[in-house]
Amino acid sequence: VTPPAPAVRRAGAGDLDPLASLWTALGEHHAELDPAFALRPDAAPEIRRLLLAQLRDPEAAFFLWEEGGRALGFAQVRVDAAPPILVETRRAEIVDLAVRADARRRGIGSALLAAALDWVRDRDVERVEVRVAAANAAGQGFWRARGFGDWMDVLHRRL
Ligand SMILES: CC(C)(COP(=O)(O)OP(=O)(O)OC[C@H]1O[C@@H](n2cnc3c(N)ncnc32)[C@H](O)[C@@H]1OP(=O)(O)O)[C@@H](O)C(=O)NCCC(=O)NCCS
Repeated sequence: VTPPAPAVRRAGAGDLDPLASLWTALGEHHAELDPAFALRPDAAPEIRRLLLAQLRDPEAAFFLWEEGGRALGFAQVRVDAAPPILVETRRAEIVDLAVRADARRRGIGSALLAAALDWVRDRDVERVEVRVAAANAAGQGFWRARGFGDWMDVLHRRL
């Protein structure tokens, strides 16, 4: 039997295990960048609860890249309403995008982003945001190479 070709697909509630695993790896990657991202030791059940709620949200979508039965990357995108004083009524946000460290720089992140942006375009939403840590060199390089530019700076200060 020929294994299915590697591809992006929309993820659902049945994909909680690979999504939780990928999400945890993403959290650990960020914890190395800044202690503000550190996960609690008992975060695992809460991560699953949060993911399930987001999977049920009709204004959000998850995409998975699978290869040889293994999930190597995921993206989460959502659409939000703007305050009713703005001309722009809705905007999208790429909430998460992560590829396993041993599978990076092969185009998987770009394929997941393309699927997420197609989902956004289908909703007639014309602008997409992403929050990326200033210290995340790969993330900064990835987004800027794909046409994303500075818009808002999130400043913070330790007290
Ligand atoms: C960002 C990420 C999702 C990209 O996934 P990917 O599968 O490697 O992406 P692609 O192969 O489609 O594109 C890689 C591109 O990202 C950029 N990039 C990757 N690593 C980089 C680095 N260390 N410095 C600068 N740019 C980098 C380059 O533009 C690169 O293109 P190139 O290989 O042609 O030079 C992946 O690095 C990742 O999972 N990082 C950890 C999690 C994370 O930071 N996610 C983003 C949160 S905002």
